[in-house]
Amino acid sequence: MRVLLSGGAGYIGAHTAVALIEAGHEVIVVDDMSNSSPEAIARAGSLAGAEIPLLGADVRDEPRVRAFVQQHGPVDAVVHFAGLKAVGESVAQPVRYYDVNIGSAVAVLRLMAAESIPTIVFSSSATVYGRPETLPLREDSPTGIDLANPYGKTKRIVEEMLKDAAAADPRLRAIALRYFNPVGAHPSGRIGEDPSGTPNNLMPYVARVAVGSLERVGIFGDDYPTPDGTGLRDYIHVLDLAAGHVAALERAREGFEVYNLGTGVPVSVRELIAAFGRAAGRQIPTAVLPRRAGDVAASYCDPSKAREGLGWSATRTIDEACRDSWRWQSQNPRGYAPSPR
Ligand code: UFG
Repeated sequence: MRVLLSGGAGYIGAHTAVALIEAGHEVIVVDDMSNSSPEAIARAGSLAGAEIPLLGADVRDEPRVRAFVQQHGPVDAVVHFAGLKAVGESVAQPVRYYDVNIGSAVAVLRLMAAESIPTIVFSSSATVYGRPETLPLREDSPTGIDLANPYGKTKRIVEEMLKDAAAADPRLRAIALRYFNPVGAHPSGRIGEDPSGTPNNLMPYVARVAVGSLERVGIFGDDYPTPDGTGLRDYIHVLDLAAGHVAALERAREGFEVYNLGTGVPVSVRELIAAFGRAAGRQIPTAVLPRRAGDVAASYCDPSKAREGLGWSATRTIDEACRDSWRWQSQNPRGYAPSPR
């Protein structure tokens, strides 16, 4: 099938582009490059051995996106990655988050109606579960609109919008994928996560400390009710995540479904830092800091619905993710930015 990736030049989008092409599909990308680089798509294309058409535009720019789709179409499905994703920033700039994240999903659904595209896979997040009542998290675990931050609310609202759209149009195939914590990089070391500024997330932060561009990792709390006192998360290798999108596109049926994409294996902050230290062959300096506002002690999934419904499960370990992340970080200390001469 031919698949449009909105936000396809980002971290998860670029890895998914490679996975889709390797599975025999065609990919076209629209991305406004606000937190991504055309270099990611150039490298994804060379890894997969295909030219990937790229439109540098906001997916809400409907006339340009429609013209691009008509030029390269017909398109069979959209994977909607585009959106803003910094939790703290969403608290400071809520209206911008609603504008971009809701507006881009509305634009994608309008495009699909106009161009008769039946299938959408949406990047949702485990953040929609809020503070878990029970673990592991299942797709039928409670979610709410009453979440801690506007970012999470936009993910939840778009899920509801997809559900309503699928109820109104029986031909629509809509899948929301609730990502747990994506980590790692392509094993070639050519594409990976390239956050602008200081990373908010743990693994890219640890990677920058390992490469020497940041001094030490702050551990946000070591007094949680967990085995070593630090937070537990379900870290999923980005290649497993990419394969989950391929499976979702290939297995999508009429209606709306949600799936957790995670490993089901909880890993603590200290365990992740130790694994990264082994992968990089160096000691990672740390300092214990107070808890970060809004963090939960533990978040990990029951991945069985995706195994049964999509025939997909994660296969890569945290050690592989650390090795691949380290390879990317050490080979590209400045990310996609051209090296200084
Ligand atoms: N952590 C640190 N130090 C850091 C960064 C993180 O100790 O410098 C800890 C956090 O307290 C947490 C764990 O590492 O225990 C993971 O934190 P991340 O920021 O990497 O990830 P989160 O689980 O907080 O959030 C991620 C995504 C969100 C998404 C959420 C879903 O960033 O977009 O998972 O659960 F919504």
